[in-house]
Amino acid sequence: MNGASALSTPEYAQFILFGAMGDLAWRLIGPALFNLYLDKQLPPRFSLIGVDREISAETLRERWRDGVMQFSRQGTPGDDDWRDFASRLDAHSMDLGDAPQYSALKTRLDSARDKADARVFYLAIPPGLFGAVADGLAGAGLHRGRERTRIVVEKPLGDSLAAFRAIDRSLRAHFEETQIYRMDHFLGKETVQNILAMRFANPIFEPVWNRRYIDHVAITVAESIGVGHRAGYYEHAGALRDMVQNHLLQIMCLVAMEPPVLYDADDIRNKKLDVLRACRRIPADNIRAYAVRGQYADGWIEGVAVPGYRREPGIDPQSNVETYAAVKLLVDNWRWQDVPFYLRTGKRMAAAVSEISIRFRDIPHNAFPANTGLNSQPVRLVIQIQPQEGIILKFMAKEPGSPLRLRPVDMRFSYCEAFKKASPGAYETLLRDLLAGDATLFMRSDQVEAAWSLLMPVLDAWAANPAPDFANYPAGTWGPEAAERLVARDGRAWLTPSPTRRDDRDEGCD
Ligand code: BG6
Repeated sequence: MNGASALSTPEYAQFILFGAMGDLAWRLIGPALFNLYLDKQLPPRFSLIGVDREISAETLRERWRDGVMQFSRQGTPGDDDWRDFASRLDAHSMDLGDAPQYSALKTRLDSARDKADARVFYLAIPPGLFGAVADGLAGAGLHRGRERTRIVVEKPLGDSLAAFRAIDRSLRAHFEETQIYRMDHFLGKETVQNILAMRFANPIFEPVWNRRYIDHVAITVAESIGVGHRAGYYEHAGALRDMVQNHLLQIMCLVAMEPPVLYDADDIRNKKLDVLRACRRIPADNIRAYAVRGQYADGWIEGVAVPGYRREPGIDPQSNVETYAAVKLLVDNWRWQDVPFYLRTGKRMAAAVSEISIRFRDIPHNAFPANTGLNSQPVRLVIQIQPQEGIILKFMAKEPGSPLRLRPVDMRFSYCEAFKKASPGAYETLLRDLLAGDATLFMRSDQVEAAWSLLMPVLDAWAANPAPDFANYPAGTWGPEAAERLVARDGRAWLTPSPTRRDDRDEGCD
């Protein structure tokens, strides 16, 4: 994990990227590979073959250079660096649906002087094509080599439990589970990985990490962007599928899991799966007590008027798709019994901020005189995922002087300040682990399946009953009122995430 702890970068890797001219490759995969190259983290011998219907080495290099210019973490590439990196990129045109064409791909791959130590097939293509590519690869015998051959898929991994199972069957018909790498880019974020380091590399958190000391956990992934140009995808997804089924549930698993015995892929993923298995089923006849949906209306983001979801390009003016989802989950085990986990995510919210808020219980007895200000703020541990990266402990302290006054204060850890360098992008971490064969940060089939099963009652209920109140939150706010009620019914409230003040940003680490 993160640096392929136990496993090392192979000497020679062949990286076969299906969909090399597509958006994902241009925006994320190309820039991430280039950054790995700059950081000398690519295998010494790395060759990439970009596969697409019509592609040439020149067009691929040109497009990727453009992507790197726009999205690379390390800025505009130097000419020498780019030339050297680009010399590793080659192209192969083929029709992915035409099985016989995979033999030509095989001949091409096998014609390399030496046998690669790692061969990665990366499917940056719509999921509807996963089955055809898996069949084609297997038909040409390209699936062989349990240790060195890997296949990578990205979400959306289906839009329901049944659809996920069908996709998974088509992959597992030819590939072993250990060869299949399912991406969830949130798992590559430093701050998300640090949840385990914080919990299990320090003796002070684990003793209080349970129902005895923790009142509830709130996970917020708020975006200020709208649907953008992704209408085609989003109209079939919605916030619950797009974010909660994967990113938020994965974060929740890291917060709630039991300590692993060994820091390895299987042990960690087993412990995460246990969390999903322990989640109380959401009753189909009482969805409202557990889940809330919202859709943004016209509103304001940073002083600019923005249109509501139904007025965005490509969106059905009557769309029933949610752009906000909040879910309450209960984990039925000894550690977490009756401690709610509230998860919320939305587009066009008041701020772009992702954080986990661990709210501790109130003190059992107040020995201070009245009016000292005690309890004016609950004691919380806030794990900041983005844009700030850090941890804040919010607690009560005595104000200097007399009379005795108590005031909430913050104790802060910032990645930037502590390490004086920018975190690698999530894709960089995940691609490096993938090349090294470290699956810790990738999702296992049973996890994805458990996540779908947990949310299916909500998805089914929402599909069957169009929301009568959409659009129900103005752009630039914290979501629909019903989400406030969801937690208020338990006597709790969402706390506004720590502000992202411009002058508070981690300077020099961007
Ligand atoms: C993607 C979702 O998985 O994550 C997008 O499909 C979302 O809708 C994105 O905007 C958020 O990721 P990040 O890394 O920008 O927070």
